[in-house]
This record gives sequence, structure tokens and C-alpha cells, in this order.
Amino acid sequence: MVSGIVAGRLAIVTGAGSGIGRATCQVLSREGATVIAADKNYAAAEQTIKSHAALASGFNDAGDHSALELDVSDSKSVKHAVQKTLEQYKAPPTIVVNCAGITRDNWLLKLSEEDYSRVQDVNLKGTFLVMQAFAQAMADKGKPGSIVNISSIVAKYGNIGQTNYASSKAGVIAMTQSAAKELGKFNIRVNAVLPGFTETPIVETVPEKVMHQMIKMIPLGRMGQPSEIAEVITFLSSDKSSFVTGAAVDVTGGF
Ligand SMILES: NC(=O)c1ccc[n+]([C@@H]2O[C@H](COP(=O)([O-])OP(=O)(O)OC[C@H]3O[C@@H](n4cnc5c(N)ncnc54)[C@H](O)[C@@H]3O)[C@@H](O)[C@H]2O)c1
Repeated sequence: MVSGIVAGRLAIVTGAGSGIGRATCQVLSREGATVIAADKNYAAAEQTIKSHAALASGFNDAGDHSALELDVSDSKSVKHAVQKTLEQYKAPPTIVVNCAGITRDNWLLKLSEEDYSRVQDVNLKGTFLVMQAFAQAMADKGKPGSIVNISSIVAKYGNIGQTNYASSKAGVIAMTQSAAKELGKFNIRVNAVLPGFTETPIVETVPEKVMHQMIKMIPLGRMGQPSEIAEVITFLSSDKSSFVTGAAVDVTGGF
């Protein structure tokens, strides 16, 4: 029998092909959930489910895990994901983790409209579309659940080169708080996690000099690991956090 703090639950994680999303799939699975790894990059999502590394880091093999191609910025793709999930599992996921995210960094004075819009479309509109569609599916079936939206610590403080990204992530916090107020009556909790600098491919474009300066500002003196963010996401997904909703939780090493 599978045990763990999310045993028997069905979870969907977007952005599951890499970094924090992949680690979240691994920790949710270790804690007993069946995981749908959804990503625009299907091959990467499949790798999350299948890789030996995933098994070694605790993927339970009892669950009927699956990979799903999903572009969170496209409402048709999101609707299709809900349909496919209901067909395959005969029930909606009761854990939804919005982890898909992108950066298109540039100085404010040089940022193109296209790079502004693309970041908003994936990070903010994507969170909205996924949350709306899957919350509706839960409400339709009268299922309580938990939604965790990944924001960023730069949502609170801003960051050079990230007017588009920081504003999209600030939007995620406000959207989370508003959704928590609306969805409480369905016993659906909605929380945000604000990671600090975490060692994943998304930070590979940050110049080394900037990275060193950033690390100096982190009291714990290092970047976070994706698994350290995933543990908090899993706690918020589970009934261990049953009275937490509308919260925005920093996971930053004190940054
Ligand atoms: N790594 C950090 O330092 C850090 C800090 C704060 C917040 N975050 C946030 O955490 C989340 C995960 O970031 P990460 O560091 O793991 O990044 P990552 O680049 O390693 O992974 C992001 C994943 O999202 C997927 N994706 C991109 N666009 C998509 C779309 N339209 N639809 C579906 N999937 C899409 C990518 O294919 C990729 O697999 C993001 O929302 C990011 O903004 C990361």
C-alpha cells in the first residue's frame, strides 16, 4: 500500500519537464500521489515520469503516472488537458501545481512588446487558465482540493531586467489571494509559493557576476535546490496544511 501525506491523490503539475516542476512530481509521488506531468515539452514530461533518476529519487511505482502535452497559455490546450484527464482517471486531479514559467529578460527601455506579452501569457494567463479549468472540474464533482501557484520572490521586491517577469509573478500572488476567497466555499485551497534563486535551467541565463552578488544577499549563503521548493509545494498540496489558504510562502534561504 502506498503511504505518504498525499497518498491516493491525483495531482497535475505544469512545467513538469524541468527544474522545480520535475522535482515536485518526484516529491508528490514519493508521498503517495499519482502524478500527471504536464509540459509544453512532452518528451521532457515523459522523461520526468520515466527516468531512472526519477525512480531513484522516490517515484512510487504503484501510481498510474502519465505525461501530458500542455501549453498553459492556450485555452484550447488547457481544456483538452482537463478532458483527457477525466477520460483517463475518471476523476479530476485534486492537487494542481502551476509551475510552468518563462523569462524574457531585458532592460525596461529595451523590452519588446512581444517579450512583455509572452511572459504575461505563460506566467499569469497560463496560471489563470489552468486554475479556472481544473477548479471547475473539482467543483463539478464536489471534490475538495488544493491549488499551488508558483510565483517568485522578485514579485515582492522587483528585479533588474525583469519588469515583465516580476509583474507577472506579482499578478500570480494577487490572483491566488482572490481565487482563495472565491473557492473556499468549495473547500478548494489556493496558495502561492515564492521561490528565491533556485538551481534550475531558468537561471542559466543570469550572468555569473550577478549570480555571485545575489548569493551574497542570501543569509543561508547558497542557491536553493528544486527539491527544497518541492517539499513546501507538497506540504501545501496535502491536508497537513488544511487551514492554509490565500497564503504566499517565501522559500528563499532568507533572501
Ligand atoms: N529557478 C528559480 O530561481 C525560480 C525562482 C522563482 C520562481 N521560479 C518559478 O518556478 C517555476 C519553475 O521554474 P524552473 O526554475 O523549474 O524553470 P525551468 O525552465 O527549469 O522549467 C520550466 C518548465 O516550464 C515549461 N514551460 C514553459 N512554457 C510552458 C507553457 N507555455 N506551457 C507548459 N509548460 C511550459 C518548460 O518546458 C519547462 O519544462 C517557474 O514558474 C519560475 O518562474 C523559479
